[in-house]
Amino acid sequence: MNRAVATHAPAMETVALRRTLGEGENALEILHGLDLVIRRGEFCAIMGPSGSGKSTLMYLLGALDRPSAGAVKIDGIETTRLPEAALADVRNRKIGFVFQFHYLMPEFSALENVTLPMAKQGVPAREAAARATELLGLLGLAGKERRLPARLSGGEQQRVAIARSLANQPLVVLGDEPTGNLDTRNGDLVFELFERLVREQGQTIVVVTHDPRLAARTQRIIRLMDGRIVDDGKPAEVLARAGERG
Ligand SMILES: Nc1ncnc2c1ncn2[C@@H]1O[C@H](COP(=O)(O)OP(=O)(O)OP(=O)(O)O)[C@@H](O)[C@H]1O
Ligand SMILES: [Mg+2]
Repeated sequence: MNRAVATHAPAMETVALRRTLGEGENALEILHGLDLVIRRGEFCAIMGPSGSGKSTLMYLLGALDRPSAGAVKIDGIETTRLPEAALADVRNRKIGFVFQFHYLMPEFSALENVTLPMAKQGVPAREAAARATELLGLLGLAGKERRLPARLSGGEQQRVAIARSLANQPLVVLGDEPTGNLDTRNGDLVFELFERLVREQGQTIVVVTHDPRLAARTQRIIRLMDGRIVDDGKPAEVLARAGERG
């Protein structure tokens, strides 16, 4: 399916987004009013120092968490007051997650790990297996479908996790330091794959990374500092302003 036709429509939006932890005297505001639009087909990197709020933002964008004030809209759906079941439904239908640690199910094969999210959405087993096989092939894992995660390399395990994130054809793939645990070569492979998904399928991808060299391969860098957006623009420009080289 080519989703490039829908390019430029917002995939996700935050409006004066605030996230506070704790209550009363102990309340601590982590995000201080973020306004952000991620458009369909965009490949964005989120950068910023440790503790600047990147993961907090990713959780909110991914409907794993709710705003304390302001709004997050995912494909136009406002998540703030959604009941838990409806929030989970938005998450399952619209979002694919890739984390730093892959969280594959150790007792299930690569193929089974990728079919699981489809089974949860009621995709018939045969169809799910066919799509999982196709995805694993696309990620260079043909012939390794039956292996347990422990019998795959770290880079291969992360590629299985990416295949899993794509299983339900999510509107947006969110990666929170998906290459943080990989060597340079495997990190490059993951980003090559992201670039291909963006180019060939119009996939929207938002990825947190500390690596300016990888961030330089995206189309846009959003920089957070102390829970605020302090820069947002073309990678070369944002990296230059921060004195970093891509
Ligand atoms: N459960 C929590 N309880 C208390 N403080 C928290 C909690 N989760 C996050 N924080 C605080 O919120 C701020 C933002 O955290 P967040 O995890 O979003 O940062 P980050 O940019 O992802 O950092 P890193 O690069 O280290 O992953 C930090 O100051 C952190 O200490
Ligand atoms: Mg983080």
